[in-house]
Amino acid sequence: MTAGALQLLVLEGDGIGPEITAATLAVLRAAADRFGLNLAFPRADIGWVAHRATGTTFPDAVYDQAKAADGVILGPVSHNEYPPRTEGGLNPSGELRKRLDLYANIRPARSREGFPPRCGVPVDLVVVRENTEGFYADRSMHVGPGEFMPTPDLALAMRKITRNGSTRIAEAAFKLARQRRRKVTCVHKANVLRVSDGLYLECTRAVAAQYPDVAYEERIIDAMAALLVRDAAQFDVIVTTNMYGDILSDEASEIAGSLGLAASLNAGAEHGVAQAQHGSAPDIAGKNVANPSSLIGSVAMLLAWLGERRNDSALAGAAQAIEAALDRVIADPKTRTPDMGGALGTDAFAAAVAAAISR
Ligand code: IPM
Ligand code: MG
Repeated sequence: MTAGALQLLVLEGDGIGPEITAATLAVLRAAADRFGLNLAFPRADIGWVAHRATGTTFPDAVYDQAKAADGVILGPVSHNEYPPRTEGGLNPSGELRKRLDLYANIRPARSREGFPPRCGVPVDLVVVRENTEGFYADRSMHVGPGEFMPTPDLALAMRKITRNGSTRIAEAAFKLARQRRRKVTCVHKANVLRVSDGLYLECTRAVAAQYPDVAYEERIIDAMAALLVRDAAQFDVIVTTNMYGDILSDEASEIAGSLGLAASLNAGAEHGVAQAQHGSAPDIAGKNVANPSSLIGSVAMLLAWLGERRNDSALAGAAQAIEAALDRVIADPKTRTPDMGGALGTDAFAAAVAAAISR
């Protein structure tokens, strides 16, 4: 490791994880060269590789490394296929989100020049998803999971909504809106979940009152799912609870163009984790056809986040240059991966993005 370097811990994950993290690092190295960044990329095993070696998909030592790092680059994980938690099957993204208190999952859905949006007009919105509570069984309890089975024929799940969690995610959304088109849409289901989404809504309204310069509106989740298809261009910042945000962010990014292009940053007060929005796609793993854009864009978000915290214009510049390079490469049908109708492999696509940064 280079002394004084910014330490970005690389966790490759499962499926296409190793390929897309390698592609992402190639792009990062080009950005580091051009902007004179001193980056180091320590790595650690998670997922199936770690499970085979240590009996758990998320070893404690990896958590310690993530906590000590300046930022984390997290590849996708095949959490769906892991054994139960009692047999070492921990969800690495859930563990990092909960234990590093990464309460905001920031998910831009932005149409790219030359690549058609799915529903008519270009989209430029950001889903700000609460990331540490809600309907996630690995996040809602102090001890034990938030799901249980009192009898073989009855399963119960707990959903956790707190005043603090709701307030801080609303604040993140309004702060972000001030840097954008100054509009926040709060998505909820308080017509049915009167108590829990009621508390969530109460907190968001209280924060909204402190931002009179930001337009504020509320939508119920089911109607919102339809509205996004009908007219996603009307939205700027969408703030919502964990599970609604998980679903809406995939919908929004697909409408904007493709889930395969959707970046995502998990951020808290102290830590930032870049993580692609999509899954580990085991069916195409190892074939050099996966589109690494999502993780590349996520890492650009991590650099921007670090740049803002450290007041470092080189980091901010590198983030912008990566995004601009992605735009340019995606705009050209000759430099697309197969999912975008192109012929480039994962590594050749990354080389094109790296070249666009160096130019
Ligand atoms: C995401 C993913 C995860 C989630 C899965 C892998 C557990 O869908 O990051 O959006 O639901 O949070
Ligand atoms: Mg998801």
